[in-house]
Amino acid sequence: MALNALDWLACSSFIFVLGVIGHHLRQQNRTHSLPPGPPQKPLIGNYLDVPKAEPWKTFSQWGKLYGDLVYVEVLGNKLLILNDMESMRELLEKRSQKYSDRPSFVMAKYMGIENNLSFAPYGPDWRRGRKLVHGNVNQEAVQKYHSLQENVAARFLRDLVEYPSEVMKHLHMATAQIIASITYGFSIDTPSNAYFDEFAETERIVLKSVVPGAYLVDMIPLLWYLPSWVPFNSIQRTAERGRQRVSDIVHHPMEQVEQDMKQGASSASFVSDHLRESGSDKVIRQQLPWVAWSIYEAGNDTTSGTMLVFMHAMACFPEVQTRMREEIHRVVGTDRLPSFDDRGRLPYINAAIKEVYRWKPNTPFGAPRKLQDADVYRGYHIPKGTTVMPNIWLLSRDQDSGIDPEAFSPERFLDTHVKKTAIDPYSYAFGFGRRMCPGRFLADNSVFMLVTSIVATMRISKPKDSHGMEKPFDPPYIPEGLASFPYPFEVDIEPVSDKAVAVVKGRATSID
Ligand code: HEM
Repeated sequence: MALNALDWLACSSFIFVLGVIGHHLRQQNRTHSLPPGPPQKPLIGNYLDVPKAEPWKTFSQWGKLYGDLVYVEVLGNKLLILNDMESMRELLEKRSQKYSDRPSFVMAKYMGIENNLSFAPYGPDWRRGRKLVHGNVNQEAVQKYHSLQENVAARFLRDLVEYPSEVMKHLHMATAQIIASITYGFSIDTPSNAYFDEFAETERIVLKSVVPGAYLVDMIPLLWYLPSWVPFNSIQRTAERGRQRVSDIVHHPMEQVEQDMKQGASSASFVSDHLRESGSDKVIRQQLPWVAWSIYEAGNDTTSGTMLVFMHAMACFPEVQTRMREEIHRVVGTDRLPSFDDRGRLPYINAAIKEVYRWKPNTPFGAPRKLQDADVYRGYHIPKGTTVMPNIWLLSRDQDSGIDPEAFSPERFLDTHVKKTAIDPYSYAFGFGRRMCPGRFLADNSVFMLVTSIVATMRISKPKDSHGMEKPFDPPYIPEGLASFPYPFEVDIEPVSDKAVAVVKGRATSID
């Protein structure tokens, strides 16, 4: 059918209007351009610009070149780096409705790791799990773990007195005992719980699977569909092995608790309490093993890693260690070990704990988020699906106090010593908004108790050779992935006095 003149007119007007709308939309997009960032190469984007080791340092240099918001693309994956506190607060807290999802990874998903609260998509399962955890580790609830934490610290000191060269093992065991006891009710008397090694092994799989680029299939998801007979293709086999391991570590400790409960031998714990309360609630029962594992998984290495940073700092900054010890001995005395009741009277210790979180932050670029809907911020367009990373490491390098950020100096947090105190690490070390670490009060209490107990009774120093000469000392840190803390390292430990040894032994015997 031929068009008449009127139809032509209507048609061309319609096309003109579409054209105007299209132009307008393009204009809008142009006014909301992407945030600045290093120039991208075709196809691979900034793949070669993002180093695997300590990327947070490169992100910080980009901050100087491009500003507080830096946008990069890696093989089609969009990344936004936040380099200032204001943008972290605005996006991750005020706009948390959009910024509380986590990036998804092919391998992690297949292995079941996305059932873990820390890596779960933002949605009803995550919300339900988070509520369960919150009930057990909120600021008030954690007080019920004080005596457990004090007992573990006393046993830890006794182990140090008896086998000082095994300090790293004792430290890992102490943090594992706290979290395993709270989560599953496993007794702290168990010298080496059968599950601890399995937990540690699975943790390596987990941490690898949530790092962008660790598995090629996460960058090129189509690889998943390669048949398993294709030479060198081990994707499905690796995924299956990981899935089995994760499933074992999630379900075996649960089965143990259920068995103990049947025999009337289980202690109160997160798992046993919820098993009793949930009755026949199928949804909770199904989710409980995963939430329990989330607590152990998120709470163990972070706490022991923080303690390793503390040991590193103490060996390098003996004068700070001495000032800490002087305060404890002045306030607590030398006849007993410190307790939680002392905390409010130990300002220098509290500043030193802040300094541990700041000096070498555990999660230098936080735990990444995924933007659920496109957003506009500071005039920039942020596309849907962008992975957003708060550069916590850069915040920790602030120069506000005038004290060198590389020095371990609790003074930077004391207004009696500096005109302007440094940014408070509690405002960034445990994350932001709805996904902020729910275990922060528990973690901070464990760190306080272990730190004060060690400093009160033990002297930590750089390792020495058989002639009493200091050995070279520069513990390497995990350079890539989400978490950064030292690998186990050698350090010298000796009791500060015979009296300290007697106090430690007396206190540990009272628990036996
Ligand atoms: C010093 C020790 C710890 C540090 C530095 C730490 C730090 C963090 C950080 C940075 C996050 C990510 C928050 C975000 O996305 O903004 C996080 C999440 C989490 N933490 Fe901790 N944490 C520690 C100890 C613990 C402990 C003891 C528990 C045990 C309850 C725990 C449980 C969790 C859980 C379950 C999440 C995931 C939260 C979610 O995605 O909704 N953490 N932690």
